[in-house]
Amino acid sequence: MTFFTDTKKLPPDALLQLITDFRNDPSPDKIDLGVGVYQDENGKTPIFEAVELAQRRLQADEESKTYLGPLGWPGFADEVRKLVLGAALEEKLSDRFAVLPTPGSSGALKSTGTLIHRLNTAARIWLPNPTWANHIPIFQSCDLETKTYAYYDNDATSLDREKMYADLEKAQAGDVIVVHGACHNPTGEDLSTEDWLYLTKLALEKGIVPFIDIAYQGLGRGLDEDMENVRGLLEVVPEAIICYSFSKNMGLYRERVGAALVLTENTEIAGRVQSNLNEIARRSYSMPPSYGGALAWYVLSDPDLNASWRKELEQMRKRVLSLRGQVTDALSAEFGDNRFQYIKSQNGMFSRLPLAPEQIVQLKSESSIYMAGDGRVNMCGFTSAKIARFTDLLVKVAK
Ligand code: LMR
Repeated sequence: MTFFTDTKKLPPDALLQLITDFRNDPSPDKIDLGVGVYQDENGKTPIFEAVELAQRRLQADEESKTYLGPLGWPGFADEVRKLVLGAALEEKLSDRFAVLPTPGSSGALKSTGTLIHRLNTAARIWLPNPTWANHIPIFQSCDLETKTYAYYDNDATSLDREKMYADLEKAQAGDVIVVHGACHNPTGEDLSTEDWLYLTKLALEKGIVPFIDIAYQGLGRGLDEDMENVRGLLEVVPEAIICYSFSKNMGLYRERVGAALVLTENTEIAGRVQSNLNEIARRSYSMPPSYGGALAWYVLSDPDLNASWRKELEQMRKRVLSLRGQVTDALSAEFGDNRFQYIKSQNGMFSRLPLAPEQIVQLKSESSIYMAGDGRVNMCGFTSAKIARFTDLLVKVAK
């Protein structure tokens, strides 16, 4: 027997497998509503113009590939913090923050999960039900106890507010509550301002740490609008954790550009937290990839590139909004009722369709329609022509 003889074969990640299955499907009519990636009307995931220009500048400016250390590309961490906080809060809070650039937001989740467990082995981390498919596995890999709180009522296709509040009351001092900053994945159903105020009060009264996962800033109501509630909370709570991703809003998916931002009570504590984050990075991936962080830094710090990026992101946001409207109208016409109106009012790329697992499998195997196993659809996968084909098929499967 050799060392690897008893290795068990594990199934591939269900969501990532959809990418391969779709790519290998020869059907000319196939529709990709699977992984959360922006697509334009030609089904392409474009490189932002500002990112293209940043690539050229980086190539001209960069003189060495030597190590940069745990903070990666100089200035990147400051730019992420500014983007999240906005000018007014940046002035007020910047010196209470520790910021760690990470390989994607997944790297930020892993690093902050490790930090939470290091500081309080009894901490329980509360996640919405449902949440992004990889949240629970990542936090469990940090040895944290995961708990879920009610979030979305599938039948009512809306927030399960009463149950959510009842569950959150069970959180104790030293626990951590994860919320999605904007554009909830997988439901598209966001917390209201009143919910954020409730969460703020809970954090203050009970000593609970809010944990905000931001992967879609700018794709919901707008770059600053999407941060309004987040900023309202950060302004008053003593401590918070943020995990940030540039995969979607700068189209840097494969470059793995993210950051962990930790708000502490004061500058001195922030310094100690920063030293822990740096050390956590060192003992796992050592330091973040710098290429994508450099691109994001050029885009955010150069006024022209920044304006170009904002403009293109706004066009994407509007396209997603328009598709939401078109999908809702087409489904309403096809089904002859209002059951899909919720799609119009939700935020970001995703909404969930009330389909049984067998119906989702059937749509994939018979009609080459690809969506996540829980009925989550990525609005960007639609075009007007695809909406017509999709609604036609859906009505046959669902009726
Ligand atoms: C998604 O939810 O589809 C994306 O965030 C991609 C991923 O890594 O799961």
